Amino acid sequence: MARVLVTGGCGFIGANFVLHLLRTRKDVEVVNLDKLTYAGNLGNLAEAEGHARYRFVRGDIADAGLVEGLLAEGVEAIVNFAAETHVDRSIQDATPFLQANVLGVHTLLRAALRRGGVRFVQVGTDEVYGTLGPSGRFTEESPLLPNNPYAATKAAADGLVRAFHRTHGLDAVITRCTNNYGPFQFPEKAIPLFIGNALEDRPIPVYGDGLHVRDWLYVEDHCRAIEAVWRGGRAGEVYNVGGGNELPNVELARLILRELGKPESLIQFVKDRPGHDRRYALDSARLRAELGWTPAVTLREGIPMTVRWYREHGDWLRQVRSGAYRDYYRQHYHERHGLKA
Ligand SMILES: NC(=O)c1ccc[n+]([C@@H]2O[C@H](COP(=O)([O-])OP(=O)(O)OC[C@H]3O[C@@H](n4cnc5c(N)ncnc54)[C@H](O)[C@@H]3O)[C@@H](O)[C@H]2O)c1
Repeated sequence: MARVLVTGGCGFIGANFVLHLLRTRKDVEVVNLDKLTYAGNLGNLAEAEGHARYRFVRGDIADAGLVEGLLAEGVEAIVNFAAETHVDRSIQDATPFLQANVLGVHTLLRAALRRGGVRFVQVGTDEVYGTLGPSGRFTEESPLLPNNPYAATKAAADGLVRAFHRTHGLDAVITRCTNNYGPFQFPEKAIPLFIGNALEDRPIPVYGDGLHVRDWLYVEDHCRAIEAVWRGGRAGEVYNVGGGNELPNVELARLILRELGKPESLIQFVKDRPGHDRRYALDSARLRAELGWTPAVTLREGIPMTVRWYREHGDWLRQVRSGAYRDYYRQHYHERHGLKA
């Protein structure tokens, strides 16, 4: 039985990854370390609760003693999702981003190195490359030119991971993925925000002229890529994970409105985000060639699936949008485990 420490498993991609592992692998035990920031939602993992191969630990990746204690239980790999992730919040105040995305990652790396025999998988983002013109794609050799504080902290994290490999010989790999979408995404991010607002006939805010291009990847495809890199990626290597589904934001909004049967008049252009990258696109030839990964879900398939999921999980969406999801920990988890809130 392989034990993996998943950090940030109560967030969007982390929760999908934990469920993916529990559903598809009988030989993997998952310990989920999550601080439960505003973006962490234990309700995302209701299906995993009570599972014999799953354990949740509330805590901070920057807590060295806690991380070392968990590694001492015998962990084969750390897959690090834990991060502050919302660009707009990083523009307001980057301090929590430095704490989680840089100092937190450093704590994990140091603990993995001290322990020995632990593979470190850093879940990174294409935002570290900065912005593209109308053509071309980023490869793993493209320079890191982050344009917003979130991306800058993720680039710093990638640098630390690389340094721990090159300097100390730590067995570490990095993935850099494009924009994800799918179940359990916090509704401050574009797709669940658009769906949630449209369902209530409220305006859909689109930044600037709406022509910023993003490359979308269905979250399950990302989970498969991370698993492939964890198991087969070459130590010290970076793997781009691209969807090959480029779309301007305004087209994405139109696609979602069509799927919901709502009018395009709900689209509202709002003041552009400062430092807003114009276009992201990734070349994932390395991941495809070395590890045989290909995305299974196109945007034309994934958007209807995602719209259906949010429609069918109206309670989830309402609880997150109202903030009630934060009571889940107190009400359910503490009761279940006989703990004080
Ligand atoms: N969402 C995307 O489109 C995307 C694309 C590429 C890469 N990524 C990367 O994937 C990872 C996960 O992204 P997401 O969208 O699921 O994020 P998210 O914001 O939905 O979830 C982040 C999770 O990390 C936890 N967390 C934050 N700080 C922590 C800390 N100090 N200690 C322990 N837990 C902490 C939060 O409680 C939350 O559960 C991030 O590292 C992000 O940079 C995301």
